[in-house]
Amino acid sequence: MLPKDSITNTFIVSLALCIVCSLLVSSAAVSLKGRQDENKVVDRQRNIIAAAGLSDAPKDLSISEVKEIFEKQVEQRLVDLDTGEYVEEADSKFDPRKAAKDPSLNEEIEGAYSIGLKNREKQTWVYLIKDGSGNLEKVVLPIYGKGLWSTMYGFIALNGDLRTVGGITFYEHGETPGLGGEIENPQWQGKWAGKQIWEIAQQRDDKNLRVGVTKGAPTESDADYKVDGLSGATITSRGVDSLLKYWFSSNGFGNYLNKLASQQGANNGSPNG
Ligand SMILES: Cc1cc2nc3c(=O)[nH]c(=O)nc-3n(C[C@H](O)[C@H](O)[C@H](O)COP(=O)(O)O)c2cc1C
Repeated sequence: MLPKDSITNTFIVSLALCIVCSLLVSSAAVSLKGRQDENKVVDRQRNIIAAAGLSDAPKDLSISEVKEIFEKQVEQRLVDLDTGEYVEEADSKFDPRKAAKDPSLNEEIEGAYSIGLKNREKQTWVYLIKDGSGNLEKVVLPIYGKGLWSTMYGFIALNGDLRTVGGITFYEHGETPGLGGEIENPQWQGKWAGKQIWEIAQQRDDKNLRVGVTKGAPTESDADYKVDGLSGATITSRGVDSLLKYWFSSNGFGNYLNKLASQQGANNGSPNG
Protein backbone atom coordinates (compact mmCIF):
# COMPACT_ATOMS: atom_id res chain seq x y z
CA MET A 1 0.00 0.00 0.00
CA LEU A 2 1.16 3.56 -0.87
CA PRO A 3 1.76 5.91 2.07
CA LYS A 4 -1.15 8.38 2.38
CA ASP A 5 0.95 11.48 1.74
CA SER A 6 2.99 10.09 -1.17
CA ILE A 7 3.08 12.13 -4.40
CA THR A 8 1.50 9.22 -6.34
CA ASN A 9 -1.36 8.95 -3.86
CA THR A 10 -1.97 12.71 -3.94
CA PHE A 11 -1.99 12.56 -7.75
CA ILE A 12 -4.46 9.63 -7.85
CA VAL A 13 -6.83 11.29 -5.36
CA SER A 14 -6.69 14.61 -7.29
CA LEU A 15 -7.33 12.83 -10.57
CA ALA A 16 -10.25 10.87 -9.11
CA LEU A 17 -11.70 14.10 -7.67
CA CYS A 18 -11.36 15.84 -11.05
CA ILE A 19 -13.13 12.99 -12.85
CA VAL A 20 -15.98 12.87 -10.31
CA CYS A 21 -16.42 16.66 -10.40
CA SER A 22 -16.36 16.86 -14.20
CA LEU A 23 -18.90 14.03 -14.40
CA LEU A 24 -21.14 15.88 -11.92
CA VAL A 25 -20.87 19.18 -13.82
CA SER A 26 -21.46 17.67 -17.26
CA SER A 27 -24.40 15.54 -16.11
CA ALA A 28 -25.93 18.64 -14.43
CA ALA A 29 -25.44 20.61 -17.68
CA VAL A 30 -27.07 17.84 -19.75
CA SER A 31 -29.97 17.26 -17.36
CA LEU A 32 -30.69 21.01 -16.99
CA LYS A 33 -30.53 21.73 -20.75
CA GLY A 34 -34.23 21.01 -21.25
CA ARG A 35 -35.22 23.31 -18.42
CA GLN A 36 -32.90 26.08 -19.66
CA ASP A 37 -34.42 25.87 -23.14
CA GLU A 38 -37.92 26.01 -21.66
CA ASN A 39 -36.96 29.05 -19.56
CA LYS A 40 -35.70 30.81 -22.68
CA VAL A 41 -39.00 30.18 -24.47
CA VAL A 42 -40.97 31.42 -21.43
CA ASP A 43 -38.73 34.52 -21.18
CA ARG A 44 -39.49 35.38 -24.81
CA GLN A 45 -43.20 34.78 -24.23
CA ARG A 46 -43.06 37.06 -21.16
CA ASN A 47 -41.50 39.78 -23.33
CA ILE A 48 -44.18 39.36 -25.99
CA ILE A 49 -46.80 39.72 -23.23
CA ALA A 50 -44.99 42.84 -21.96
CA ALA A 51 -44.74 44.43 -25.43
CA ALA A 52 -48.43 43.73 -26.06
CA GLY A 53 -49.43 45.13 -22.65
CA LEU A 54 -51.27 41.90 -21.72
CA SER A 55 -50.15 42.14 -18.08
CA ASP A 56 -49.55 45.03 -15.67
CA ALA A 57 -46.61 43.20 -14.11
CA PRO A 58 -45.18 40.77 -16.70
CA LYS A 59 -42.00 40.26 -14.65
CA ASP A 60 -44.03 38.86 -11.74
CA LEU A 61 -45.91 36.27 -13.81
CA SER A 62 -45.18 32.64 -12.95
CA ILE A 63 -44.24 30.22 -15.74
CA SER A 64 -47.74 28.73 -15.73
CA GLU A 65 -49.35 32.21 -15.87
CA VAL A 66 -47.18 33.13 -18.85
CA LYS A 67 -48.16 29.90 -20.62
CA GLU A 68 -51.85 30.44 -19.85
CA ILE A 69 -51.92 34.02 -21.21
CA PHE A 70 -50.01 32.85 -24.25
CA GLU A 71 -52.34 29.94 -24.95
CA LYS A 72 -55.54 31.97 -24.46
CA GLN A 73 -54.64 35.30 -26.04
CA VAL A 74 -51.76 34.91 -28.46
CA GLU A 75 -51.87 33.35 -31.91
CA GLN A 76 -48.43 32.54 -33.31
CA ARG A 77 -48.04 32.54 -37.11
CA LEU A 78 -45.05 32.03 -39.38
CA VAL A 79 -44.60 34.72 -42.04
CA ASP A 80 -42.62 34.72 -45.27
CA LEU A 81 -41.00 38.18 -45.13
CA ASP A 82 -40.62 38.61 -48.89
CA THR A 83 -44.19 37.78 -49.85
CA GLY A 84 -45.76 38.95 -46.60
CA GLU A 85 -47.90 35.77 -46.63
CA TYR A 86 -48.40 33.31 -43.79
CA VAL A 87 -46.69 29.94 -44.11
CA GLU A 88 -49.35 27.25 -43.72
CA GLU A 89 -48.64 24.13 -41.66
CA ALA A 90 -45.57 25.71 -40.09
CA ASP A 91 -43.27 23.56 -37.98
CA SER A 92 -43.77 24.83 -34.42
CA LYS A 93 -40.10 24.10 -33.70
CA PHE A 94 -38.90 26.43 -36.48
CA ASP A 95 -36.14 28.63 -35.03
CA PRO A 96 -35.64 31.96 -36.89
CA ARG A 97 -32.27 32.52 -35.22
CA LYS A 98 -30.92 29.26 -36.60
CA ALA A 99 -32.55 30.00 -39.95
CA ALA A 100 -30.73 33.37 -40.13
CA LYS A 101 -27.44 31.44 -40.15
CA ASP A 102 -28.52 28.70 -42.56
CA PRO A 103 -27.82 29.53 -46.24
CA SER A 104 -30.86 27.54 -47.36
CA LEU A 105 -33.17 29.45 -45.00
CA ASN A 106 -31.67 32.94 -45.02
CA GLU A 107 -31.11 35.74 -47.51
CA GLU A 108 -28.83 38.73 -47.81
CA ILE A 109 -29.92 41.95 -46.16
CA GLU A 110 -30.62 44.51 -48.87
CA GLY A 111 -31.96 48.00 -49.18
CA ALA A 112 -31.23 51.36 -47.62
CA TYR A 113 -31.49 50.17 -44.03
CA SER A 114 -29.10 47.96 -42.10
CA ILE A 115 -29.13 45.93 -38.92
CA GLY A 116 -25.35 45.48 -38.97
CA LEU A 117 -25.64 41.84 -40.09
CA LYS A 118 -25.16 40.22 -43.48
CA ASN A 119 -28.19 37.90 -43.56
CA ARG A 120 -31.61 37.48 -42.09
CA GLU A 121 -34.06 34.59 -41.97
CA LYS A 122 -36.59 34.33 -44.84
CA GLN A 123 -39.40 33.41 -42.47
CA THR A 124 -40.14 34.41 -38.91
CA TRP A 125 -42.80 34.20 -36.21
CA VAL A 126 -45.32 36.95 -35.55
CA TYR A 127 -47.80 37.04 -32.66
CA LEU A 128 -51.40 38.16 -33.08
CA ILE A 129 -53.51 39.38 -30.17
CA LYS A 130 -57.25 39.33 -30.88
CA ASP A 131 -60.30 40.39 -28.87
CA GLY A 132 -63.23 38.08 -28.04
CA SER A 133 -64.84 38.73 -31.44
CA GLY A 134 -61.65 37.90 -33.36
CA ASN A 135 -60.71 41.50 -34.18
CA LEU A 136 -57.00 42.19 -34.25
CA GLU A 137 -55.96 44.22 -31.21
CA LYS A 138 -52.21 44.06 -31.63
CA VAL A 139 -49.49 42.35 -33.59
CA VAL A 140 -46.14 41.68 -31.95
CA LEU A 141 -43.07 41.45 -34.18
CA PRO A 142 -39.58 40.20 -33.37
CA ILE A 143 -36.84 42.80 -34.01
CA TYR A 144 -33.06 42.64 -33.76
CA GLY A 145 -29.89 44.37 -34.85
CA LYS A 146 -26.38 45.32 -33.81
CA GLY A 147 -25.69 47.80 -31.03
CA LEU A 148 -22.16 48.65 -29.89
CA TRP A 149 -21.09 45.29 -28.46
CA SER A 150 -23.83 42.89 -29.36
CA THR A 151 -26.91 41.93 -31.32
CA MET A 152 -29.93 43.29 -29.46
CA TYR A 153 -33.10 41.15 -29.58
CA GLY A 154 -36.55 42.48 -28.78
CA PHE A 155 -40.22 42.66 -29.65
CA ILE A 156 -42.37 45.56 -30.80
CA ALA A 157 -46.16 45.62 -30.65
CA LEU A 158 -48.28 47.61 -33.09
CA ASN A 159 -51.86 48.53 -32.28
CA GLY A 160 -54.75 47.33 -34.45
CA ASP A 161 -54.21 50.23 -36.90
CA LEU A 162 -50.85 48.57 -37.73
CA ARG A 163 -49.05 51.92 -37.61
CA THR A 164 -48.97 52.96 -33.93
CA VAL A 165 -46.48 51.46 -31.46
CA GLY A 166 -48.20 49.68 -28.56
CA GLY A 167 -45.00 48.73 -26.70
CA ILE A 168 -41.40 47.61 -27.07
CA THR A 169 -39.11 45.29 -25.12
CA PHE A 170 -35.50 44.16 -25.43
CA TYR A 171 -34.87 40.79 -23.83
CA GLU A 172 -31.33 39.89 -24.87
CA HIS A 173 -28.25 42.01 -25.57
CA GLY A 174 -24.67 42.54 -24.43
CA GLU A 175 -24.65 46.36 -24.19
CA THR A 176 -23.08 48.00 -21.13
CA PRO A 177 -25.33 48.13 -18.05
CA GLY A 178 -26.19 51.77 -17.30
CA LEU A 179 -25.26 52.90 -20.84
CA GLY A 180 -26.51 50.93 -23.87
CA GLY A 181 -28.06 48.45 -21.41
CA GLU A 182 -30.69 51.10 -20.66
CA ILE A 183 -32.62 49.78 -23.68
CA GLU A 184 -34.03 47.44 -20.99
CA ASN A 185 -35.18 50.33 -18.82
CA PRO A 186 -39.00 50.33 -18.63
CA GLN A 187 -39.00 54.15 -18.48
CA TRP A 188 -37.20 54.43 -21.82
CA GLN A 189 -39.29 51.62 -23.31
CA GLY A 190 -42.44 53.42 -22.08
CA LYS A 191 -41.62 56.41 -24.31
CA TRP A 192 -42.34 54.32 -27.40
CA ALA A 193 -46.06 53.75 -26.82
CA GLY A 194 -48.09 55.90 -29.22
CA LYS A 195 -45.23 56.62 -31.65
CA GLN A 196 -46.10 56.35 -35.34
CA ILE A 197 -44.03 54.23 -37.71
CA TRP A 198 -44.93 55.99 -40.97
CA GLU A 199 -45.84 59.58 -41.79
CA ILE A 200 -49.38 60.00 -40.44
CA ALA A 201 -52.10 59.35 -43.04
CA GLN A 202 -49.55 58.29 -45.67
CA GLN A 203 -48.91 54.87 -47.16
CA ARG A 204 -46.87 52.30 -45.28
CA ASP A 205 -43.92 52.47 -47.62
CA ASP A 206 -40.22 53.16 -47.23
CA LYS A 207 -40.32 56.79 -48.31
CA ASN A 208 -42.76 57.52 -45.46
CA LEU A 209 -40.79 55.71 -42.72
CA ARG A 210 -40.43 58.14 -39.80
CA VAL A 211 -39.93 56.03 -36.65
CA GLY A 212 -36.52 56.44 -35.04
CA VAL A 213 -34.23 57.58 -32.26
CA THR A 214 -32.89 61.14 -32.02
CA LYS A 215 -29.82 62.47 -30.26
CA GLY A 216 -31.38 64.73 -27.64
CA ALA A 217 -35.09 65.46 -27.29
CA PRO A 218 -37.02 65.10 -30.57
CA THR A 219 -38.12 68.33 -32.26
CA GLU A 220 -41.83 69.10 -32.40
CA SER A 221 -42.12 67.75 -35.92
CA ASP A 222 -40.40 64.49 -34.86
CA ALA A 223 -42.28 64.05 -31.58
CA ASP A 224 -45.00 61.81 -33.08
CA TYR A 225 -42.40 59.40 -34.45
CA LYS A 226 -39.16 59.47 -32.49
CA VAL A 227 -37.79 58.87 -29.01
CA ASP A 228 -34.67 60.55 -27.60
CA GLY A 229 -31.57 58.36 -27.48
CA LEU A 230 -29.84 57.02 -24.38
CA SER A 231 -27.25 59.41 -23.00
CA GLY A 232 -23.67 58.14 -23.30
CA ALA A 233 -24.87 55.39 -25.62
CA THR A 234 -25.06 56.99 -29.04
CA ILE A 235 -23.98 53.83 -30.84
CA THR A 236 -26.57 51.62 -29.13
CA SER A 237 -29.22 54.29 -29.81
CA ARG A 238 -28.22 54.41 -33.49
CA GLY A 239 -28.51 50.62 -33.58
CA VAL A 240 -32.10 50.83 -32.30
CA ASP A 241 -32.86 53.56 -34.85
CA SER A 242 -31.49 51.43 -37.70
CA LEU A 243 -33.12 48.18 -36.67
CA LEU A 244 -36.55 49.80 -36.34
CA LYS A 245 -36.27 51.37 -39.78
CA TYR A 246 -35.08 48.08 -41.26
CA TRP A 247 -37.78 45.88 -39.73
CA PHE A 248 -40.56 48.26 -40.79
CA SER A 249 -39.16 48.71 -44.31
CA SER A 250 -40.27 46.66 -47.30
CA ASN A 251 -37.28 44.35 -46.66
CA GLY A 252 -38.56 43.63 -43.14
CA PHE A 253 -42.23 43.45 -42.14
CA GLY A 254 -43.45 46.12 -44.61
CA ASN A 255 -45.04 43.68 -47.07
CA TYR A 256 -46.61 41.61 -44.31
CA LEU A 257 -48.09 44.65 -42.55
CA ASN A 258 -49.57 46.01 -45.76
CA LYS A 259 -51.19 42.64 -46.51
CA LEU A 260 -52.45 42.31 -42.96
CA ALA A 261 -53.85 45.86 -43.08
CA SER A 262 -55.81 45.17 -46.25
CA GLN A 263 -57.12 41.87 -44.80
CA GLN A 264 -58.15 43.57 -41.58
CA GLY A 265 -59.51 46.65 -43.31
CA ALA A 266 -57.41 48.59 -40.78
CA ASN A 267 -57.40 52.19 -41.81
CA ASN A 268 -56.20 55.13 -39.92
CA GLY A 269 -56.86 57.61 -42.62
CA SER A 270 -54.13 55.92 -44.64
CA PRO A 271 -54.50 55.49 -48.38
CA ASN A 272 -53.52 51.83 -48.28
CA GLY A 273 -55.70 50.45 -45.56
C1 LIG B 1 -16.64 50.89 -20.73
C2 LIG B 1 -17.45 51.61 -21.76
C3 LIG B 1 -18.68 51.05 -22.13
C4 LIG B 1 -19.48 51.66 -23.11
N1 LIG B 1 -20.66 51.10 -23.45
C5 LIG B 1 -21.42 51.68 -24.42
C6 LIG B 1 -22.65 51.09 -24.83
O1 LIG B 1 -23.11 50.08 -24.31
N2 LIG B 1 -23.32 51.70 -25.85
C7 LIG B 1 -22.85 52.84 -26.46
O2 LIG B 1 -23.50 53.33 -27.39
N3 LIG B 1 -21.73 53.42 -26.06
C8 LIG B 1 -20.99 52.88 -25.05
N4 LIG B 1 -19.83 53.45 -24.67
C9 LIG B 1 -19.50 54.77 -25.20
C10 LIG B 1 -19.00 54.71 -26.61
O3 LIG B 1 -17.68 54.29 -26.58
C11 LIG B 1 -19.13 56.10 -27.22
O4 LIG B 1 -18.28 56.97 -26.56
C12 LIG B 1 -20.54 56.63 -27.07
O5 LIG B 1 -21.41 55.82 -27.77
C13 LIG B 1 -20.70 58.05 -27.51
O6 LIG B 1 -21.93 58.46 -26.98
P1 LIG B 1 -22.25 59.98 -26.58
O7 LIG B 1 -21.99 60.77 -27.84
O8 LIG B 1 -23.69 59.98 -26.17
O9 LIG B 1 -21.34 60.34 -25.45
C14 LIG B 1 -19.03 52.86 -23.70
C15 LIG B 1 -17.79 53.41 -23.33
C16 LIG B 1 -17.02 52.79 -22.39
C17 LIG B 1 -15.71 53.41 -22.02
